[in-house]
Amino acid sequence: MSDAPGPIRAVVTGATSGLGRALAVLMGRRGWRVAVTGRRAERLEETAKLVREAGGEALALPGSVTDDGEVRAHYAAIAAAWGGLDWAVLNAGISAPMNARAFSAEAVRRTFDVNVLGAARWLEAVIPGMAARGSGLIAGISSLAALRGLPRTGPYCASKAALLTLLESARVDLRGTGVAVCAVCPGFVKSEITNRRDPRAMPFLMETEDGAAAVLRGLDARRRVVHFPWPLSYPARFLWPALPGFLYDPIAALLGTLKDRASPS
Ligand SMILES: NC(=O)c1ccc[n+]([C@@H]2O[C@H](COP(=O)([O-])OP(=O)(O)OC[C@H]3O[C@@H](n4cnc5c(N)ncnc54)[C@H](OP(=O)(O)O)[C@@H]3O)[C@@H](O)[C@H]2O)c1
Repeated sequence: MSDAPGPIRAVVTGATSGLGRALAVLMGRRGWRVAVTGRRAERLEETAKLVREAGGEALALPGSVTDDGEVRAHYAAIAAAWGGLDWAVLNAGISAPMNARAFSAEAVRRTFDVNVLGAARWLEAVIPGMAARGSGLIAGISSLAALRGLPRTGPYCASKAALLTLLESARVDLRGTGVAVCAVCPGFVKSEITNRRDPRAMPFLMETEDGAAAVLRGLDARRRVVHFPWPLSYPARFLWPALPGFLYDPIAALLGTLKDRASPS
């Protein structure tokens, strides 16, 4: 994928924990150059150290995907160090629980600023260089939660659906340029997001490393959309969307009530 001599040059946003960190380490094992971003500088240094120990080269770029200037500066630092990027994995994300009975536009704004605009800022930064070179891979981490409006998590579902369609449009627009665009829709993977939830409400919960390996397999294969794990992704893709509202609503409302009981606010 790289047209520059030497190892693949990748960025992983949101690599201070969870899937992002595990992905960066797997890339390190392949001997890649891996730039990692995230707000917690110390944890980011830990990730960079893990990448180096795994056999890769690392560049730690502390900062937030919500800051236009920081994203531009991060891309400029990568371009200065390595001459460009072959892979961009736009992984940074947050989840803000919300019951629409206490609707919070602020929760929606905050979630979209990271999950959608954070990816958009990086898309703006990386596409011109990749398209000019005629090669590259861009992946955004969406979610199976993008496929239907789930209870108590409206801002997250909406942001992941927006990311999914944004990536699909980019994939179509970039067809023929040599730049591949992949969307990733994981089920439940152990991470700081899922650590806060009741494990009984997360069927087929995966180990972080297994989740990261599934992401990488899908990206290696240049799948347009990577869904996993299959016992959850098949119903999410083929059963949930087919359920008419009069069936979906009472089932989803019941799930919401069970969620409330499992973690009362
Ligand atoms: N775990 C799952 O079950 C699951 C399922 C589907 C999709 N996903 C998606 O997978 C991605 C990774 O999440 P995770 O589950 O691994 O959770 P996680 O452990 O909480 O990791 C989230 C990462 O995003 C970073 N981040 C958050 N806000 C940021 C900001 N403003 N700027 C830069 N980085 C930011 C965090 O770093 P800092 O806090 O240090 O900034 C952290 O490194 C997310 O997009 C999530 O929505 C996860």
